[in-house]
Amino acid sequence: MAPSTSSSKRAFSAAMSLLLFFGMWASPAMSRKLHIMSMQERHEQWMSQFGRAYKDADEKAMRFEIFSDNAGRIDQFNEAGNTTFTLAVNQFADMTNEEFRATYTRLTTSSPIGDAATLFQYENVTNIPRFMDWRRRKAVTSVKNQGECGSCWAFSAVAAVEGIHKLKTGRLVSLSEEQLVECDRVGEDKGCDGGLMDDAFKYMIRHGGLTSETNYPYTATDSRPCNSRKANRIAAKIKRYEDVPGNNEKALLKAVAHQPVSVAIEASGWEFQFYSGGVFDGQCGHNLDHGVAAVGYGTSKGRMKYWLVKNSWGASWGEQGYVRLKRETRSKYGMCGIAMSASYPIA
Ligand SMILES: *[C@@H]1O[C@H](CO)[C@@H](O)[C@H](O)[C@H]1NC(C)=O
Ligand SMILES: *[C@@H]1O[C@H](CO)[C@@H](O)[C@H](O)[C@H]1NC(C)=O
Repeated sequence: MAPSTSSSKRAFSAAMSLLLFFGMWASPAMSRKLHIMSMQERHEQWMSQFGRAYKDADEKAMRFEIFSDNAGRIDQFNEAGNTTFTLAVNQFADMTNEEFRATYTRLTTSSPIGDAATLFQYENVTNIPRFMDWRRRKAVTSVKNQGECGSCWAFSAVAAVEGIHKLKTGRLVSLSEEQLVECDRVGEDKGCDGGLMDDAFKYMIRHGGLTSETNYPYTATDSRPCNSRKANRIAAKIKRYEDVPGNNEKALLKAVAHQPVSVAIEASGWEFQFYSGGVFDGQCGHNLDHGVAAVGYGTSKGRMKYWLVKNSWGASWGEQGYVRLKRETRSKYGMCGIAMSASYPIA
């Protein structure tokens, strides 16, 4: 292991070449300043980067403590540098892991997993490419941001429906999570207090579909009543949905080879909170608490197999809003439980 001074020099020169790559010129004075930036300065810079304001000095001091603890641990993790993924001081840096869990992971999993016990239409497929990225086939909308609302389940279901709608009609239409948040009370679905992707599919089947994001835009709140005039302007329909046989990554592969798929994962770990890139195989259980969408798979340059997953925490988290999760782990549940409770709509 290289001494930390030389590894931080390496990190520093990497940062410098990144600046140069983006065509910016850093003066020696500016780079010295970057190099010796205090934790206070980092916090100030981070606050302006993410537009964070605190109500008073006490709150700022309290948030600074948390920021400083997270940033220090993130630096240490990256300097150790022996993992297949890296962390970053992202928009969650002034939140404790407990606060983060309470705010951003709110999938309800009280009902039995895989309750639909339906047919699996991809059971016997044999055409499974070695690599898939549904973004390249224009079947994935840009990364969205659920904000401080436990609506991950709506984003996960919508991403899968956007995918199958494109494959079926040739048109990629961004669809309305807000409609699910405000109008869908099927089963476990409770707006910002959590829900299930399968219940969202059930709502769409009963209601006749979903309207577009443009028509019924996202507000990250569920305090308004359902706007049925908007909800009735249907932009995409599904006929039914199926569950992927649980705890079976091969079955999940068959499904994701054919369309974007809603998946549930455990996303509440500290390493996941600050994930910034690479193939994630960090600390993660399978206590499912977050809905996301598997939109591809592949093998990294380091020969690690991964799932390509679209998250709903904005583009400043992970790889422009995506995470690659290790594929084919020793656990039947899959990395972070990704193989436990997957489902997809049929249009
Ligand atoms: C990575 O670092 C940890 C902690 O220092 C160590 O236990 C582990 O063996 C290292 N792994 C590799 C692949 O070097
Ligand atoms: C897959 O093949 C088996 C054996 O032929 C058959 O029983 C089953 O119905 C097929 N599944 C689907 C979804 O077509």
